[in-house]
Amino acid sequence: MAEAHRWDPEGYATHAGFVPDAGAAVVEHLAPRPAEKILDLGCGDGVLTEALVKAGAHVVGVDSSAEMVAAARNRGVDAQVMDGVALNFVEEFDAVFSNAALHWMKDLASVIAGVNRALKPGGRFVGEMGGEGNVATISQALREAMVRRGVDGHSVDPWVFPSPEAFATLLESQGLQVEAVQLIDRPTVLPGDIEGWLETFAGSFLHHHPLSEHPAIIAEVREAVRPRLQSANGAWVADYVRLRFIAHKPVSRA
Ligand code: BEZ
Repeated sequence: MAEAHRWDPEGYATHAGFVPDAGAAVVEHLAPRPAEKILDLGCGDGVLTEALVKAGAHVVGVDSSAEMVAAARNRGVDAQVMDGVALNFVEEFDAVFSNAALHWMKDLASVIAGVNRALKPGGRFVGEMGGEGNVATISQALREAMVRRGVDGHSVDPWVFPSPEAFATLLESQGLQVEAVQLIDRPTVLPGDIEGWLETFAGSFLHHHPLSEHPAIIAEVREAVRPRLQSANGAWVADYVRLRFIAHKPVSRA
């Protein structure tokens, strides 16, 4: 089974600062209005949550990582530790927002059921996550590195990257009405070497091996993906594919 990923807010800020930058477009898609009540699902260190607050919304952030919630609180965000599969809100929010978090939640049906419960009738669910084909080159190299060490790569893979069709079906099966689901190719230039990305995000694969072996695994994966992901100028470009969506909770009829 995939072990829970351990988050390090400092490493995240260094190696994944582009995530909230890219998420600004998702905030525009949400179009938060003053005084709306919004749930930020998988708020991480709260950088984007802050953007929602600045738009005048009342925002609650939830994240399964106590370290990330502490970082979000440090920037003044109202955040609490809560697992996405166990959202305990009932008809509280005008909108649920999520950026780059849902692909860590393998039981998406339970997550979306909780989102539906948390929304007021007529509320919207707007977000972006990794979609079908996301980080395919990196995932394959990680899985192969696991297999070479006698570990089933799929069983330790913590990510889920649905197709638009599969995600739309999931939204509808949990009672939401789909307005749009779109797959967007977004090759993403990393702020440094891909080693930093692997150290930040590939913990679920690495933790199955002694710490002393991590540098060798990272070097092996780096070498395997280098021909496809390192540009001639030396920059590393991750093969990101985003799934962007908007769905609505139906207005109940008496
Ligand atoms: C993503 O944002 O697509 C992503 C981040 C970390 C691991 C896998 C995917």
